[in-house]
Amino acid sequence: MKNTLIIIGHPHFDKSIANKAIIEILKDKIKLEKLDSNIRFRNLIELYPNYKIDIPAEQDALIWADNIVLQFPFYWYNVPAILKIWMDEVLEYGFAYGKTGDKMKGKNLLLSFTTGGPEESYTQGGRNNFEISSLLNPHKQTSNLMGCNFLDPVCSHSMINLPNISTELDELNEKSKIHANQIFNTINNL
Ligand SMILES: Cc1cc2nc3c(=O)[nH]c(=O)nc-3n(C[C@H](O)[C@H](O)[C@H](O)COP(=O)(O)O)c2cc1C
Repeated sequence: MKNTLIIIGHPHFDKSIANKAIIEILKDKIKLEKLDSNIRFRNLIELYPNYKIDIPAEQDALIWADNIVLQFPFYWYNVPAILKIWMDEVLEYGFAYGKTGDKMKGKNLLLSFTTGGPEESYTQGGRNNFEISSLLNPHKQTSNLMGCNFLDPVCSHSMINLPNISTELDELNEKSKIHANQIFNTINNL
């Protein structure tokens, strides 16, 4: 397997249900398949509880990787702030773009995320008005600009467990398993 870096961008990972489950299932699978040396995880909120990103450390981690997975919960139709700050600061001029900024070139980029809204809400005229693929266009173009290969995103919907708007925990776990397997198979086949 090629070197794969999984960046976890969840501001409250300790309270997460869906993203935490996906990561735990992925870690178990990686251990089982003895692929630990090829896959690294960086949990941003654990590394940077004060949102002060170590830019050289993050860039080194990216340079090592052939595949980059961004794992996050969908917040306001985008990535959470901790991951946006990471993008703004780490994917800087001269590193990710610009005349000499070619360090991301040729890498595979995979967005892996969960939404609270159901799948049918992400349609024209639906509650969320836009298809997920349209909402991700800025990320797709960011990837293009960096010369990355933007893989088909993996998204699981209705991943919320709150009073009134909830999916049963058993179902959440089942969906997390399917999601984690999809990520594993995607990176394993690259
Ligand atoms: C600040 C905030 C913004 C959110 N914005 C959206 C959104 O735009 N669309 C959506 O479908 N769900 C939204 N949600 C729901 C989260 O995506 C959902 O709770 C998350 O995917 C569940 O994953 P977790 O258990 O790992 O936290 C939002 C939640 C929060 C707290």
